Amino acid sequence: MARKLALTRNNMGWAAEKPNQINQLFVDFCATGACGENSPALDIGAAYGLATIAALEAGANVIANDLDPTHLEEIVRRTPEESRQRLQLKAGKFPREIHFEPGTLGAIHASNVFHFLTGNQLAYGIRNAARWLRPGGKLFVQAATPYQAQFASFIPEYERRVLVGVKWPGWVEKISRYSQHKKLGAMPASIHLLDVRTLVPLIEATGLTVERAWLYQRDDFPRELRLDGRESFGLVALKNKASILTATT
Ligand SMILES: C[S@@+](CC[C@H](N)C(=O)[O-])C[C@H]1O[C@@H](n2cnc3c(N)ncnc32)[C@H](O)[C@@H]1O
Repeated sequence: MARKLALTRNNMGWAAEKPNQINQLFVDFCATGACGENSPALDIGAAYGLATIAALEAGANVIANDLDPTHLEEIVRRTPEESRQRLQLKAGKFPREIHFEPGTLGAIHASNVFHFLTGNQLAYGIRNAARWLRPGGKLFVQAATPYQAQFASFIPEYERRVLVGVKWPGWVEKISRYSQHKKLGAMPASIHLLDVRTLVPLIEATGLTVERAWLYQRDDFPRELRLDGRESFGLVALKNKASILTATT
């Protein structure tokens, strides 16, 4: 049986080996022909390329990004020969180290990577992502929520912060303060847990239209981290003509 998750080489958590809900929506969008040569898809934090390769196989042109260049080398190895000419690589840390011209990307996919960003990085990155998308382009996001078994003792603090209006209520400076996960060393020391209340206003402020934002449990989510069906956050947002005006003014 195929593994469900594979450890990243830079201790940035685990990469999916089976498509999750958001990966699939991204690939389905690519299959509509939305990401051709002049409007490729960008896969932020692509790891070993599960979504990148599925999007290539759906006919898209894809730019795979990751801060670990050895992950990108692995994507090239895993990409079938006939799709390689539609694959571009872009090593670097989102958002500060990667740049695109406004209106040039057909889709942006960021699965399990936004929760590694601070609030300011996230706000800056989402503004850029909105600018990079072409009209009709879509943003696909999946991120960790506070509603995972390992963060159960953080939930009351999270809810309190939301209630009193803390700007980044899901920022956990030291994961080890709350989580006893047996493989904490395979994660960065801090995490930014996100949900509809924190991410949707940020995305709407860029002028993108949020088509869908919801909490769910991924099929491949480890049993010991399951809590109540709200473990992951998913979002699909559209750039329409009106959002170009809003994002650039
Ligand atoms: C938890 S894995 C997720 C991989 C894959 N997207 C998935 O959903 O299974 C996170 C990946 O994002 C990369 N990453 C983390 N922070 C990043 C950043 N700021 N910019 C680009 N890549 C980043 C890591 O190197 C790692 O490969």
